[in-house]
Amino acid sequence: MADTNRDFAESFLDVTDRNQVTNTKWEKYAGQDILPMWVADMDFPSPTPIITAIKARAEHGIFGYQDEPQPALVDAVLQYIYKHYDWKVEPEWLVWSQGMVPMLNATSRAIIGDGGKSMTLTPVYYHLFKGPDNWVQAPEDSIRVSLRYTPEKTEPWDINWDALEAAVTADTKLFMLCNPHNPVGIAYNKETLTKLTEFCLRHNLILCSDEIHCQLLLNNQQHIPIASLSKEIANQSITLMAPSKTYNIPGLGCTFAIIPNPELRAKIEAARAGILPVGNIMGFIAAEAAYRDCDKWLEDLIGVINSNYQTLHRTLQPYNKVKLNPLSATYLAWLDVTDLHLNNTADFFESFGLGLSPGDDFLPPEGYDFVRINLGCQPSQLEEACRRFTKALDSVL
Ligand SMILES: Cc1ncc(COP(=O)(O)O)c(C=O)c1O
Repeated sequence: MADTNRDFAESFLDVTDRNQVTNTKWEKYAGQDILPMWVADMDFPSPTPIITAIKARAEHGIFGYQDEPQPALVDAVLQYIYKHYDWKVEPEWLVWSQGMVPMLNATSRAIIGDGGKSMTLTPVYYHLFKGPDNWVQAPEDSIRVSLRYTPEKTEPWDINWDALEAAVTADTKLFMLCNPHNPVGIAYNKETLTKLTEFCLRHNLILCSDEIHCQLLLNNQQHIPIASLSKEIANQSITLMAPSKTYNIPGLGCTFAIIPNPELRAKIEAARAGILPVGNIMGFIAAEAAYRDCDKWLEDLIGVINSNYQTLHRTLQPYNKVKLNPLSATYLAWLDVTDLHLNNTADFFESFGLGLSPGDDFLPPEGYDFVRINLGCQPSQLEEACRRFTKALDSVL
């Protein structure tokens, strides 16, 4: 079943026993024959340049405070963004932190902490609405607008502009965007992003764009940082990026926001001050190696994800009651299982040895049932997962 036309590097094929060390993903199912394919971290070792850089730093033996990223990291980030996205970011626009989720909260605190509403497009990575939920005065001030889902279309998800216009209010201040969009796997194109900038400018919304998956684009898609589209939108935007998903270093806590507007930047800095640390030495060291030395590794990773997606696609193709959504970005596949009419979907798949993310966590449209599958694993594990999928589906169809 494997895509035998590809010779993947051994680091993508060899299985490392993750139960040898403490980790969230595998511990959930410790002692059970359930493949953990839920939380967004991958089962591949990080690229060698990252491991070498961390070892070299560890050899130094002194791990004192480091309040700012080293200049070489800032250089590597700015060069990467310029080279790949043609966006000239100034060093002072960067605000560093130890995680995206805390930055989503700091942003919510800064923009709507003293009143106002936030909006986002669902289904979406849950902290894009949970962050605002933590800071709004009333639950309805954290507005969710459903993407339009048309399962029979080749690109089944799109923005329902009328619903967006109907939902925005005079006191809405913040728009939380996920681009690329986890879990629906869209890398938004220039036309859609431009329309979104017009929407945010027209309604005077601060645009917080979570672009953590921006390097994980499949099928030769190109990422466009939304803030790079115009000076006007840059002036009211916060772009969040991190090397964590792409190079499999989420446990090292290194994230940065790009905030061109100095007043907005000061607001975010004030909201995080004394609560959210800037970073940690190993995260900084890993990030520098990631942005500078790991392009080839990333190219190979994309090949493995593409191949894993194709394997899953081939497996599910005979089953017309499940719909594997197309995947343009991320390593997270999104599967519509509505027509199986399951009662407790995640439990059902667990009983066949598959530990998936329940779709409901991401707020899919009313009446639909989804699961999210992490494809960041060795092709051999994916093949085993496919055997289990086949058994699970055959049992109900
Ligand atoms: C879109 C998105 N944002 C943020 C995060 C989490 O970021 P962090 O671990 O830096 O808080 C994830 C993790 O899956 C994600 O998918």
